[in-house]
Amino acid sequence: MSEDSGYLLDNRAAQAGERFAALAEIFDASTFRHIDALGIGRGGRCWEVGAGGESIVRGLAARVGAEGRVLATDIELGWARGATAMPNVEVSRHDVGRDDPPAGGGFDLVHARLVLVHVPERERALGTMVAATRPGGWVMVEDADPALQPLACIDPAGPEQELANRVRAGLRTLLAGRGADLAYGRKLPRLLRAAGLVDVAADAYFPVAHPACARLEMATVNLIRDRLLEAGVVTAAEIDRHLASVAAGRLDLAQPPMITAWGRRPLAGAGG
Ligand SMILES: C[S@@+](CC[C@H](N)C(=O)[O-])C[C@H]1O[C@@H](n2cnc3c(N)ncnc32)[C@H](O)[C@@H]1O
Repeated sequence: MSEDSGYLLDNRAAQAGERFAALAEIFDASTFRHIDALGIGRGGRCWEVGAGGESIVRGLAARVGAEGRVLATDIELGWARGATAMPNVEVSRHDVGRDDPPAGGGFDLVHARLVLVHVPERERALGTMVAATRPGGWVMVEDADPALQPLACIDPAGPEQELANRVRAGLRTLLAGRGADLAYGRKLPRLLRAAGLVDVAADAYFPVAHPACARLEMATVNLIRDRLLEAGVVTAAEIDRHLASVAAGRLDLAQPPMITAWGRRPLAGAGG
């Protein structure tokens, strides 16, 4: 447990399961709206990169059916293992920043949500994802852009909201210190084209007030509490006050915009 993967929001923490459940509640509808629009369905072969929990893996497995296959990878697999109960799912440890593409490749969809922003070798990671996609297949990357909308409370109406925004600023400082690119989301269309993809497009979604944002905030702040204190960005009393405001439901909590970008690997001989 003492090994440090470099990833701030460590999956081995007790709060990780609650974080994955909240992320699913906030973002899965948008994720699957995009995946369905790409036409991923029965018989499809998908690679879910940095799966975290089970929800996206299960959603993909249900769509591709018994004839399809879903490979779910992560550097820490604890929360995704339940998905192996589905016969068309394989779960495997893989560092997308450092490891080669999975053997076999040829995926119809390679998808990562809130992963590359945390991976210092994100350029190589994107190349690995593209290399694993079949010609004509899709790469879809979803990442936050906290620099575009940095606030926890976009209506800072009083001291509780201002404190929430200070705690959020502390999280950003810690993430940046771990090599996260806090303006990564906006770069995705350009980076997908630079990686050789065509038919590239992108859009964004963010909740302004959503009940699952409170659960995500509680789990995240509890997870990084000691690191926030070490960094001296807030005091223990301020963290406790903030958690009490969240728990009481007094805050409209937002998330940074999630940029969803997608592009297709050119068909062989199609040029580009
Ligand atoms: C914020 S969570 C997002 C989880 C899930 N994709 C979602 O959207 O709910 C980031 C995930 O990326 C994983 N991760 C971080 N660095 C990674 C790397 N280099 N290779 C693969 N997965 C990584 C973490 O372990 C974690 O599960």
